[in-house]
Amino acid sequence: WQVLSKKPWVSTWLLLHTLRYFYTASSDVPNFPEFVVVGYVDDVQIIHYDSNNRTAVPKQDWMKDITDQPYWERQTGKLMGSQQMFKVNLETAKQRFNQTGGVHIVQVMYGCEWDDETGDVDGYNQYGYDGEDFIVLNLKSETWIAAKQQAFITKLSWDSNKAMMSHIKHYYTQICPEWLKKYVNAGRSSLMRTDLPSIKLLQRTPSSPVTCHATGFYPRNAVMFWRKDQEEVFEGVDHGEMLPNHDGSFQMSVDLNISLIRAEDWSRYDCVFQLKGVEEDLTVTLDKSVILSNWRKSDGGVVAGAVVGGLLLLLLGAVSGFFLWRKRSGGNK
Ligand SMILES: *[C@@H]1O[C@H](CO)[C@@H](O)[C@H](O)[C@H]1NC(C)=O
Ligand SMILES: *[C@@H]1O[C@H](CO)[C@@H](O)[C@H](O)[C@H]1NC(C)=O
Ligand SMILES: *[C@@H]1O[C@H](CO)[C@@H](O)[C@H](O)[C@H]1NC(C)=O
Repeated sequence: WQVLSKKPWVSTWLLLHTLRYFYTASSDVPNFPEFVVVGYVDDVQIIHYDSNNRTAVPKQDWMKDITDQPYWERQTGKLMGSQQMFKVNLETAKQRFNQTGGVHIVQVMYGCEWDDETGDVDGYNQYGYDGEDFIVLNLKSETWIAAKQQAFITKLSWDSNKAMMSHIKHYYTQICPEWLKKYVNAGRSSLMRTDLPSIKLLQRTPSSPVTCHATGFYPRNAVMFWRKDQEEVFEGVDHGEMLPNHDGSFQMSVDLNISLIRAEDWSRYDCVFQLKGVEEDLTVTLDKSVILSNWRKSDGGVVAGAVVGGLLLLLLGAVSGFFLWRKRSGGNK
């Protein structure tokens, strides 16, 4: 790649910090624990708990530095309680939808954000069932919004529980931001890092779209697109989903349909990757000789390995509650 442009927004990035927890309770999903909890500060996973292990474990060394053994015992105890509660939640949801068996999933996403510059804090808590919103907290009005008719009875009961709401308000405006600040300060050097990706052009068959694949970057705040003569191309371009790698970095891809591009025009196309916090764009020019593929014999085994490696990362990315929610919450394809 080559350096092509400078961006002005480098110095002000990452002032908004987030602490987010994702609970996933499922029934009849093969090879997936029936209860999984992951917690993130910004884009970095800090905690993991699942019903197979039944132990809350830290995912970052700096988390170990600011917590003690009793902290992890308390988290484990709380999450074991949540596991029982979510088993009941799942049964309740099934009854409300007149379902008896099969694959069903309750997901919760809650957390808070803190603006390092203004000091503003905000919190949210939302429940999903089978991939759709179920009930969502409105912290401003101190009420719950039923996204499904089946959630209305829950809304009525939770709205009338003043003690619960005052506890929730306290948690999202005081406790959660306090912990978030503590975590951000402890993990600052690792949270603020930038890692550049390796970028490859991949192609399944000679007529398939060319995939520009970037993996290993951090933070997730990145964009990737195709450009022709320095102008962004929209036609025949398909953006893939951003996926987490198991090492804490991210990957994404963007396809270009090359069926209408004449051979002599190929060199006018670049794949461009921009990472927030990094001035230089990374670019790869469309060029048959750098495309990795399974079909081009001359490239041999190393290349086949590279493409298979990419797929393996995709699969690893899929095994996380975080990903399940994002995929099901729509927006992206
Ligand atoms: C399972 O729990 C043990 C402690 O009981 C912990 O040391 C280990 O890292 C956990 N395994 C996973 C995969 O989280
Ligand atoms: C569930 O069954 C009850 C009683 O048969 C019926 O009144 C209700 O509409 C059903 N709900 C759904 C979501 O199908
Ligand atoms: C690429 O574009 C051609 C011509 O518009 C179209 O026929 C083909 O279906 C497209 N391929 C893909 C994978 O979208």
